[in-house]
Amino acid sequence: MKTVAQGFYQDPRIQQAKDLLRDAIIDHQKNLTGVKAADPALKDDYLATLKKFGDQRGGALFYQYLGSGIGNGALVELADGSVKYDFITGIGVHYMGHSNAQMTGALVDGAISNTVMNGHLQQNVDSARLVDVLSQEACKYGALTKNVFLCTSGAMANENGIKLIFQKRSPASRLFAFEKCFAGRTLGMAWVTDKAAYRQGLPKTIDVDYIPFYCESDHQGSIEAATRAMKKAIGRFPGQHAGFIMELIQGENGSWVGNTEYFEALIKVCKENNISVFADEVQSFARTHELFAFQHFKLDKHVDIVAIGKNSQVCATFFTDDHKPKPGLISQTFTGSSTQISSSLWILDQITKGGYLGKDGKIEQLHQRFKGHLDKMAAKHPSKIKGPWGIGAMVAMTLFEGDETKTKSFTMKLFENGVLSFMAGSAPARVRFLMPVLAVKMEDIDNVCALIEKTLTEME
Ligand SMILES: Cc1ncc(COP(=O)(O)O)c(C=O)c1O
Repeated sequence: MKTVAQGFYQDPRIQQAKDLLRDAIIDHQKNLTGVKAADPALKDDYLATLKKFGDQRGGALFYQYLGSGIGNGALVELADGSVKYDFITGIGVHYMGHSNAQMTGALVDGAISNTVMNGHLQQNVDSARLVDVLSQEACKYGALTKNVFLCTSGAMANENGIKLIFQKRSPASRLFAFEKCFAGRTLGMAWVTDKAAYRQGLPKTIDVDYIPFYCESDHQGSIEAATRAMKKAIGRFPGQHAGFIMELIQGENGSWVGNTEYFEALIKVCKENNISVFADEVQSFARTHELFAFQHFKLDKHVDIVAIGKNSQVCATFFTDDHKPKPGLISQTFTGSSTQISSSLWILDQITKGGYLGKDGKIEQLHQRFKGHLDKMAAKHPSKIKGPWGIGAMVAMTLFEGDETKTKSFTMKLFENGVLSFMAGSAPARVRFLMPVLAVKMEDIDNVCALIEKTLTEME
């Protein structure tokens, strides 16, 4: 016996429609072959739309960017007819690149499903498939975070995780987090995020004690400083810490990378003090040698909660059985749209089976190619550019000794020259790149690096 839906999705007309759509995408995206300047005839309208949009949304956009609706891998066409390399991908979201023709089938499956959205009261069978894949992948090296709760933003995935921790550890009400971390922009996460400007005028929601992040040039010193800071705060507020939310690779701060021994030293203190361990992987998911950064750092046995988002299209909170919530604590109307869910399944299939992971996987190859160019540039222009260069598909660089004004000006000039990057962090400010891993080619990296160097040489 088949359900009506099974018959529907296997209808040859639907396969035919998918093939036609895929072919149409390929035919049209062939016209996007490289960086291109805006069409002067479109420019005035484009700028007027941007201006109106900026006014109506209550603030101008960072870049003069409005996509036209088509792209070709790492290339994206804007509505002014210009074509640019997208090496920031909506801050780490468009993992598949632009107009990925191979993905057409998954997108169509989502688009023709009976509802636009799925939610916690009613969801389709694909949600169960997605949760199963995520759960198995998260636990494959022995982690106990087998429960997976879907939602629609990284901040919400973090909020849900924090709620589970507070409920389990009640009445403990404080958190640990890393200095300069970013956790999202809800009222709760604004107080976890270590940036005063992002919570200006907001009432305090959570008390957070900050731990200095790992410093590669002072391995032992940073372990000692961090554990000392943690023990001091525990001594000051005995029994009051419920959890430690760890951004294992600090994305918004400029792709700073942690270290296993360092994390383990802090986790040991947490375990001794009944403090839950939470890995915020909203940005790092699918960007290191392993699907999860906690797997890359071999913290499988230690994590109680994990949050993912961005590349996964659907966001999720993973938790151990002993962090299961009481009824009513977490739920949202939406888990994600049907296309988000079918796309997420497609992306996970590609990344886990397509040779991307592992020490010699495609992600590492992309990193090495990028790093090779940046090393050469740093040798040629030592006063303008230096590392560290980040990790895997989270590449970053420090320009002009981290000067914020010059760094911003560089990102704007690079945009004009045809590449989307983004600023990150402060003191030092950095420039970062989140590549469209499933679509980017080595020659794209070569071309982008040539444009980075051109832009650097244009700046004093
Ligand atoms: C580490 C981290 N956590 C949480 C978030 C918040 O995710 P979202 O913007 O989807 O709410 C981000 C977003 O940049 C992030 O980088």
